[in-house]
Amino acid sequence: MKKIKFFSGKEIPLEMHKVRIVQKLFLPPVEDRQKALNEAGNNLYLLKNNDIFLDMLTDSGVNAMSDNQLASMINADDAYAGSRTYFELEAKIQEILEMKFFLPAHQGRACENLIAKRFVKPGDVVPMNYHFTTTKAHIVINGGRVIELVSDDSLIPNSTDPFKGNFDLNKLRNSIKEIGAEHIPFVRVEAGTNLIGGQPISLENIEAVKNICREHGIMMLLDASLLQDNLYFMKLREEKCRDLSIKEIMLKVASNFDIIYFSARKFGFARGGGICLRTKELWDSMKETVTLYEGFLTYGGMSVREMAAITVGLDETLDMEVISQGPQFIEYMVNELDKRGIPVVKPAGGLGCHLDAMKFIPHVSGKEYPAAALCSALYIAGGIRSMERGTLSEDRNPDGSEHLASMELVRCAMPRRVFTLSQVDYAIDRITWLWENRELIGGLRFTEEPKTLRFFVGRLEPVSNWQEKLVKKFREDFQDSL
Ligand code: F0G
Repeated sequence: MKKIKFFSGKEIPLEMHKVRIVQKLFLPPVEDRQKALNEAGNNLYLLKNNDIFLDMLTDSGVNAMSDNQLASMINADDAYAGSRTYFELEAKIQEILEMKFFLPAHQGRACENLIAKRFVKPGDVVPMNYHFTTTKAHIVINGGRVIELVSDDSLIPNSTDPFKGNFDLNKLRNSIKEIGAEHIPFVRVEAGTNLIGGQPISLENIEAVKNICREHGIMMLLDASLLQDNLYFMKLREEKCRDLSIKEIMLKVASNFDIIYFSARKFGFARGGGICLRTKELWDSMKETVTLYEGFLTYGGMSVREMAAITVGLDETLDMEVISQGPQFIEYMVNELDKRGIPVVKPAGGLGCHLDAMKFIPHVSGKEYPAAALCSALYIAGGIRSMERGTLSEDRNPDGSEHLASMELVRCAMPRRVFTLSQVDYAIDRITWLWENRELIGGLRFTEEPKTLRFFVGRLEPVSNWQEKLVKKFREDFQDSL
């Protein structure tokens, strides 16, 4: 990829696209933000989109689509069975992953449901570099257990390790020995490891994991939801990928796996999902669950329009200019915050910029959900919706005690091609203000706590009147500004 240099020498990410459709934004005054937050039980999922200025909750299903994606949607072939659009999607997957068999599903967790139902038995253990919330929930609900095998250093937020998503190979070997291969239905590799800050895994590490799995006859499975970011980092950071095209890297990655599944809300820049399988036996053994839970085999719960957009989106994933936009904006945000001494996950990953809440507000204990508290504070400070990735995103232990997360992160996701650099600068500005006023931020406690995936619909309240104090300080510092 050629770089465009500025005469001034300044280094900022430069968009290689232009914006042709826009959506108006509103920023409610700070007092209204506090009111909306409390009406939503301090759970940013429960806010109304109209009350949000910058929605940095997720990059899932909210990336800007290209002109070619939109055009393809109009030309989609609508049929319950046998749609041409489905076969075009299947052909694109066969081309870019060289996996012959495909099962469509309505999104990533639907794939996880089908996979866990098919392969996970009570007592089984699924090793992975790191868990994802919905993945773990599906494994646990089927009687299994998850073990996480990234190296201990990967959980240190401030690091220079370019591949924090890598497996610790000794941990993998030892766990297989301890658990016994017969209790391991598959090893799951997550590209762009979500919960530790969108951190990549290297091709070399994937190949080493594959060799260990082959030795023990264990199946290899890839969660490719964040593969596009991971490919970008492989190309940039891994010597053996430097001279390969994105397509060549993708094929090399894919060649290691028996099953690859993805959320097309991320991989493919539209909305949907699917499971790619290497053999007809695997496909045969799962196809009936698709018709039972998702839909007929040629749509699996997706609209044909979305399937058409995914097909084009997957093709665009091969374009370095397309897949670099997210990571470059994220790197800009991470560097600007880091320069100001604000604790962020480093090196910059994909997916979003992650604030380290344990360091940001060390006076809030893990039991008072520091990452969730910082998310609430950021919404008050700027109408910015981020996502808690810490203790609140964990379920309680079976004995009811809190499962304290190893990292307390606030994820400011960067939906691709959605925000301008001045909007990112606004987010940096409001986070900087919060950092200066961090001693005002307090904790949260549950008022309604669901048993599983509690972060989605649980309700909380502040443990003191810290939010009123924060609003008052905002007014003093910003006067009549929104
Ligand atoms: N796997 C990974 C790595 C994910 O990041 C996600 C979703 C899923 C599976 C589930 O896919 O949402 O289509 O059902 N991540 C979203 C996020 C929700 O905000 O990070 P899904």
